[in-house]
Amino acid sequence: MKIAITGTPGTGKSTVGKILSERLGIPVYNLSQLIKEKGFYTEFDEKRKAYVVDLEKLKEFFKDKENYIAEGLVAHYVPADLIVVLRAKPEVVVERLKPRGYPEEKLNENAEAERLAVIATEVFESNSNWKVAHIDTTNRTPEEVAELIERALKGEEVFDDVDWLEDETGCY
Ligand SMILES: Nc1ncnc2c1ncn2[C@@H]1O[C@H](COP(=O)(O)OP(=O)(O)OP(=O)(O)O)[C@@H](O)[C@H]1O
Ligand SMILES: [Mg+2]
Repeated sequence: MKIAITGTPGTGKSTVGKILSERLGIPVYNLSQLIKEKGFYTEFDEKRKAYVVDLEKLKEFFKDKENYIAEGLVAHYVPADLIVVLRAKPEVVVERLKPRGYPEEKLNENAEAERLAVIATEVFESNSNWKVAHIDTTNRTPEEVAELIERALKGEEVFDDVDWLEDETGCY
């Protein structure tokens, strides 16, 4: 079984990945760690302070593996039977990331990416016929999120209606 968990930072990928790994008895790979450790990058982007992922090497790593959970910002580039897109209200993303001591700019950047559904759009607009579970984690515990993923694995449709732009009462 191959599961990819993607989403904006703070949506809970690592937390639910660990729970799911224990429940299903399959290994979980944190992609940012893996990319750094194995050198699956082409360069370090000084401006963005981030590694530029070598997607070919990343895909190659998972090629012969039968069972895994891949979680991270680029998880939707890893082959999977189910791709899970985690969402959370932008304010909640900020609340969850604050304890990490991120600078204001980085908090805002992530809130904005979530508000605009950057990753979700990437998944929905990709031309693959992946099975997708789309989960709003805002008012759910990590255990409840894991439970939903298990239901999706069993074939249930798990697809929350999320639009943070519609939520806003103020004008733009
Ligand atoms: N469903 C949830 N409800 C409440 N808090 C949560 C939930 N999921 C995760 N958290 C908390 O939010 C914080 C961020 O979670 P986590 O590290 O799993 O996010 P992430 O998506 O892996 O972020 P990143 O992309 O930066 O690795 C943690 O403190 C975690 O305990
Ligand atoms: Mg994480």
